[in-house]
Amino acid sequence: MKMKYWKKLTVAEQDARITEALSQNIDYKQKISLGVPASRLDTTVFYEQAPFLKDAPLLRTYVQNPNHIGCHTLGDSEDFFKGTQELEREVIELLAVDVLKAKPHTCDGYVAAGGTEANIQAAWIYRNYFEQEHNASYNEIALLGSEDTHYSIAKASNLLHLKWYSVSVDDNTREIIPAELDKTLEQAKAEGIKYFIVISNMATTMFGSVDNPDVYVAHLQKHNLPFKLHLDGAFGGFIYPTAHPESTVNFANPHVSSVTLDAHKMLQAPYGTGIFISRKGLINYVYTKEAQYVNGMDITLSGSRSGANAVAIWMILMTYGPHGWFEKINKLLYRTDWLCKQLDELGFSYYRYPNMNIVTTRAKHIPATIAHQFGLVPDTHDGNPNWYKIVVMDHVEVEHLDEFLNEVRA
Ligand SMILES: Cc1ncc(COP(=O)(O)O)c(C=O)c1O
Repeated sequence: MKMKYWKKLTVAEQDARITEALSQNIDYKQKISLGVPASRLDTTVFYEQAPFLKDAPLLRTYVQNPNHIGCHTLGDSEDFFKGTQELEREVIELLAVDVLKAKPHTCDGYVAAGGTEANIQAAWIYRNYFEQEHNASYNEIALLGSEDTHYSIAKASNLLHLKWYSVSVDDNTREIIPAELDKTLEQAKAEGIKYFIVISNMATTMFGSVDNPDVYVAHLQKHNLPFKLHLDGAFGGFIYPTAHPESTVNFANPHVSSVTLDAHKMLQAPYGTGIFISRKGLINYVYTKEAQYVNGMDITLSGSRSGANAVAIWMILMTYGPHGWFEKINKLLYRTDWLCKQLDELGFSYYRYPNMNIVTTRAKHIPATIAHQFGLVPDTHDGNPNWYKIVVMDHVEVEHLDEFLNEVRA
């Protein structure tokens, strides 16, 4: 585990770094600022002199309320918030290089509202890329992914006026069926599609299964079809790379152009911490030249967005460091292994991707009342689920799993 940037920092070191960053942002009390439609949080409600703020750099960031509008990994940015923008840049570069195996300084990115926004941002970039570089019309460009792909791609399809082709997976392995992929590509070609935006899962929502992006690559190349490939690591982004350090389902694969990671899932960051990262030279395809009152390039789907979210991600990464994070993930995997062993003894059929923390059991093994009582999530809410999933998060302890299993056995 050789890291270029990621290291553990003490609470005092983090505080000093964030305090320094906040001091470089605009201080509305010290500097007359007549034009920005922004200010610190309302001091009548969010009392600035609260004594606990002194020891809570994240809360101080919330009170200062930096706006990270735009993207800070390229071009100019609003000068008012340059201190905390630097922390966001550090987060993006660290994740691109130390987690996703990109070469240093080869990626752009920003902290989005969530995985949905990051996935739509990717689709938007590639739609414009094919339009601008290949003169493609929207009805010649399609989204492509497996049937287990998150529904945010259906939203992207609707918003961007792109057709969405979903490929069947094997019911047991959750792997893309190559013959089905071929059939889908033949059908899409017959319907006039010439360019593909592939969404390859780095852990699906329901199964935690990870697609092999090279299956898409091989078939698209066989059909001579141009494509761009995005990895949806909204769920898996903070567990799969740690649990599978040898993997090339990341920027080590030259066909991977961009990645979504959600810090508000496995990293337990506050909501509003989706992360979009792409190779340099791509995000420019969504440049909104009309955004002239903003200093810098507006190339993000979000406009205004809280800088405190980037600081929260930065703090979590620095608190654990890579080794602490490895230990935390392995604790979850230990619990998941324990659960699977019990399910094996019960003779239940279930799906688990190796070294991941989602276990999805066939619904026939679990009475609906027990599933409901223990908060298992069904694959459908129409009353006839095929599967129930257990996600072994930080709060899911062996004692809880044991209680659930005892209920099932009884
Ligand atoms: C694989 C995957 N992609 C995208 C999303 C959407 O993320 P968000 O809810 O942060 O928009 C999710 C959410 O569960 C997901 O599991």
